[in-house]
Amino acid sequence: MSTPLFDGVRKHAEKQPVQFHIPGHKKGSGMDPEFRNYIGENALAIDLINIAPLDDLHHPHGIIKEAQELAAEAFGADYTFFSVQGTSGAIMTMIMSVCSPGDKIIVPRNVHKSIMSAIIFSGANPIFIHPEIDPNLGISHGITTDSVEKALETHPDAKGLLVINPTYFGISGNLQKIVEIAHRYEVPVLVDEAHGVHIHFHDELPLSAMQAGADMAATSVHKLGGSMTQSSILNVKKGMVSPQRVQSIISMLTTTSTSYLLLASLDTARRRLATEGQQLLTNTIQLAEQTRKQLNDIPGIYCVGREILGDKATYDFDPTKLIISVKDLSMTGSEVENLLRERYNIEVELSDLYNILCIISLGDTKTETKKLVDALTQLSLESRDTSKPKHEMNVYVPRIPTLALSPRDAFYASTEVILLSQSVGRIIAEFIMVYPPGIPILIPGEIITQENLDYIEENIKEGLPVQGPEDETFQTIRVIKEFKAIK
Ligand SMILES: Cc1ncc(COP(=O)(O)O)c(C=O)c1O
Repeated sequence: MSTPLFDGVRKHAEKQPVQFHIPGHKKGSGMDPEFRNYIGENALAIDLINIAPLDDLHHPHGIIKEAQELAAEAFGADYTFFSVQGTSGAIMTMIMSVCSPGDKIIVPRNVHKSIMSAIIFSGANPIFIHPEIDPNLGISHGITTDSVEKALETHPDAKGLLVINPTYFGISGNLQKIVEIAHRYEVPVLVDEAHGVHIHFHDELPLSAMQAGADMAATSVHKLGGSMTQSSILNVKKGMVSPQRVQSIISMLTTTSTSYLLLASLDTARRRLATEGQQLLTNTIQLAEQTRKQLNDIPGIYCVGREILGDKATYDFDPTKLIISVKDLSMTGSEVENLLRERYNIEVELSDLYNILCIISLGDTKTETKKLVDALTQLSLESRDTSKPKHEMNVYVPRIPTLALSPRDAFYASTEVILLSQSVGRIIAEFIMVYPPGIPILIPGEIITQENLDYIEENIKEGLPVQGPEDETFQTIRVIKEFKAIK
């Protein structure tokens, strides 16, 4: 199967043209030799710019167009747009393609920051749905079909429904049913598929956004699909979304100096997934399942498996994600993360109070997974010798506050800093969130309540990482300025 973009760039470099154009490092000759020698001549020879033979991501008519068409075919989309601004850029494009100032968009409360950025840029009003919280793991899952139905019944005029599928932890909702419900209301479904590029290429993995009939999906090829960091795609289905508008918005959000290293790596990652994905992923799933079994034999360790399926929010899951609950080791997830780093030279994907998350990908073998199993076995043995109390789970989520101003109006308004203890009734101009479960307590434009302040205080007391405001000590908070009447 061909890779027109990679081939085109490579052939151009092999001709060794005399370059009187940027980048000024000119195949590495004009750059620091230590860096040049470290990263290698080939990478620098294809670090090129959008000269005529290499097409232009902003107006693709040549090799980029061909590569995007092949990607659309591989991902079951009608159109694919390459992103050199990560999935964050693709997510912002999706939202800004369907929302104008004042429009409603239905989103889960535990969204990635790029979604809130797009809501601010577009001037849309978010209608939040609470994700389901898993009380045993202390993490949030996706949204249920029931909550989507309820949100659309109340807001049938929404311009879009955004779904995170699968979640960071690899849990999927019933996306096909969610799409069916949204389409009944003629509302397009936009999927944050940052953690699901591979699921399209194996029949035992959850349905991908395009397979489920969604209208757009922002997909991180770089996270789990083998392309270089920062390279992602935006898949679009014909019908409810204008591909011309998508092209012009992604272009507005994209650098004019697009990296051909990133673009060529998208082209080759697509070829590998399309031609060998099923086989490679079969091996990856087997490796992950073996590792899961070995981890579950370690006292005090629980690695989540299919037993969590069946709840409305846990319709399906990606077994290549190892959610490892360490709460019975009398250590927090972040303590385990640090010990793995310091003692065993192992880096995990993330940790929170109760869990660590490890991803098994096409790049792993038994050598790596054995190191993880051995290290956790050792930590488990040591933890049994301590008399430290187990971590008690206490995860709940406060009510979603009233939105008084659109996040954009709050973002651009005049603000002032006041004491947090005196902020009840004021409109906040910052974010405050707690992790886990990663759900904002307050977003710009919402009215602060006493319940919010109590919740923040309780979480800080329990040692949970409450984050967001400029003042990390939580003494003060930035709110919208109030103008008093002149006496
Ligand atoms: C759920 C989710 N959405 C979107 C993104 C953004 O992806 P990118 O880093 O490719 O911009 C991330 C990144 O971690 C994510 O976890």
